[in-house]
Amino acid sequence: MSILVTGGAGYIGAHVVRMLQEQGHKVVVVDDLSFGDPSRIGDAKLFQIDLADPSTRARLTEAMMDEDVEAVIHFAARKQVGESVERPAWYYQQNVGGMANLLRAMYDAGVDQLIFSSSAAVYGMPPVPVVDETIECKPINPYGETKLICEWMAADCERAWGLKWVALRYFNVAGAGWPDLMDPARLNLVPMVLERLEKGGTPAIFGDDYDTPDGTCVRDYIHITDIADAHIKSLDLVRDGQPEVHEFNVGTGTGTSVKEIIEGLQRISGWDFPVAIEERRAGDPPKLIGETKRLQHLMGWEAKHDVTDILTSAWEAWQASPHRIKVPNSNAAE
Ligand SMILES: NC(=O)c1ccc[n+]([C@@H]2O[C@H](COP(=O)([O-])OP(=O)(O)OC[C@H]3O[C@@H](n4cnc5c(N)ncnc54)[C@H](O)[C@@H]3O)[C@@H](O)[C@H]2O)c1
Repeated sequence: MSILVTGGAGYIGAHVVRMLQEQGHKVVVVDDLSFGDPSRIGDAKLFQIDLADPSTRARLTEAMMDEDVEAVIHFAARKQVGESVERPAWYYQQNVGGMANLLRAMYDAGVDQLIFSSSAAVYGMPPVPVVDETIECKPINPYGETKLICEWMAADCERAWGLKWVALRYFNVAGAGWPDLMDPARLNLVPMVLERLEKGGTPAIFGDDYDTPDGTCVRDYIHITDIADAHIKSLDLVRDGQPEVHEFNVGTGTGTSVKEIIEGLQRISGWDFPVAIEERRAGDPPKLIGETKRLQHLMGWEAKHDVTDILTSAWEAWQASPHRIKVPNSNAAE
């Protein structure tokens, strides 16, 4: 039996692939390599398939049957909020279309266990700072909408043919479990700050006049290996039968401000780099933190890493890569 990981050559997928391999599982990867890197998946067999292309459904079904797939972890998706606002129909085609093809192939191949990569983006701008899974989902951009629709699709397949599924709603994923698996995208705060430093620019804080203790936005940062571990535990849950609930926040239940993240990076890098204060960005809630009791109680999961671990691992991975940052007046960075 094997586990199929879609998007396994990407940032989060590659961590889960490696963790599964270390635990002795046979893993196969489906990835169109639009953002993935095949060197990240070890000896897992790669099927280079574009999930959003309906003509690939038969190939996908065949791959599942040939590889004796027992369960699917579905990461493959587009994840840029701004791009989703500019190209909504294409985002639906990619994320919802890809999910539809995957679910149909799973049905055809008789695979009935699914772990789906959802996002805190399904909550939109919630009226409370700490959200649990029962709060009404009101996404405010097409990216978040596609994630919520994919959850509905899984629920519909549960009713129609007994799909056993879990949707993991990630909060702010960061860090590196292994230095060679750093986040290659520059879309989230930590890599955005590091990229500015690498390029000799000044990292920015978008708004310092929010109603938070230091005026900057507060988010729930979760270490990538804690995220990966939640997938392993979710596999155990669906293997045991239909879970009593399906949606799980993956966060830490604690908040860290943008300013605290920047100060943490200054401390870890030993460099008091300058920071620019820029205008607020549209659609940024002041505070967004995930209540994670459900994941703890039903899966026995808990976050093992704190923000210092996250920032240290991100910094070390960055420094071990070709993007190494030159820290002024530091021999360590020479
Ligand atoms: N990184 C985050 O902070 C974050 C937060 C919340 C949710 N998520 C979700 O987690 C998942 C993984 O995110 P990531 O950060 O690892 O992204 P990523 O871009 O690094 O990985 C996505 C992978 O999917 C592949 N892919 C994309 N479209 C595909 C398609 N049509 N067919 C086949 N392969 C395709 C890409 O080549 C890439 O390897 C996504 O679904 C994303 O929406 C990520």
